[in-house]
Amino acid sequence: METLPRLPRLWLSTSGGLVYHLRAWRARRQWAAFHAQVAAWLAAWAPERGRLVLVGPSAGYALPLGFLARFDDVLALEPDPWARRALRRRPDGARLRFSEANVLATPEGLARLAASAPDAAVLFCNVLGQLDAPEGDWAGLLARHLAALPWASYHDAISTRLAPTRIQTLSAGSGRPMEKVLAHFWDQHLIEVVDHATWQLAGPQGTDYAYALWPLRPGQWHLVEWCSHRPPGPPAAPAKPAYSPR
Ligand SMILES: C[S@@+](CC[C@H](N)C(=O)[O-])C[C@H]1O[C@@H](n2cnc3c(N)ncnc32)[C@H](O)[C@@H]1O
Repeated sequence: METLPRLPRLWLSTSGGLVYHLRAWRARRQWAAFHAQVAAWLAAWAPERGRLVLVGPSAGYALPLGFLARFDDVLALEPDPWARRALRRRPDGARLRFSEANVLATPEGLARLAASAPDAAVLFCNVLGQLDAPEGDWAGLLARHLAALPWASYHDAISTRLAPTRIQTLSAGSGRPMEKVLAHFWDQHLIEVVDHATWQLAGPQGTDYAYALWPLRPGQWHLVEWCSHRPPGPPAAPAKPAYSPR
């Protein structure tokens, strides 16, 4: 089997590494409401699998304590060595393992992940809106390669410098146009946004679409989408061999 590219070592970058940890520490009070919302989404997510693959969890800032203990086996794909160190120290991190595989670097990466862990659920932790899809878009790659696995993602959908008029989370069905969701948070009709190319990531069959605001730093607001995908049919029987994507 062709080897997947290895994760880079992200000691320093804006979305991983020391800068991110410093930001997370300084903004912990401003991020608390967003993290509580992620905790609520995760509490309602029931993928019915004993094995979990976490993609881009960083130090687990948004993962409530106890979440990892819901699974028999947790594999984290995280290129930031500082984040790995912090994750290892979590009280619920006893079943945590790490892989060097970079499943987001090539168009076949998610297919390789699905083939290596057919009995796992996958959680993308605010990562897909921060990286360009290796070909096409993330929605297409997920539909093509991860249809047989339960997965969920929270990810940047748009970001803007304009402060919102309202901050309450919005739950919405699939197919909700971006303008309608934006109108829930902003009264202004014309908003300059960065589109992170992840809108309605799980497509029309996706479930649990919801939107919340993440105040990344002063004057920078990210609208984060949550969605999940359930594969058709009964859940796969748990497999014994340890997951190894290489
Ligand atoms: C915005 S941070 C999200 C952090 C965390 N989930 C949170 O909510 O605070 C994006 C994370 O994705 C990680 N990342 C970047 N490239 C990645 C890749 N190719 N595979 C897995 N994770 C990656 C970064 O190291 C970083 O921890």
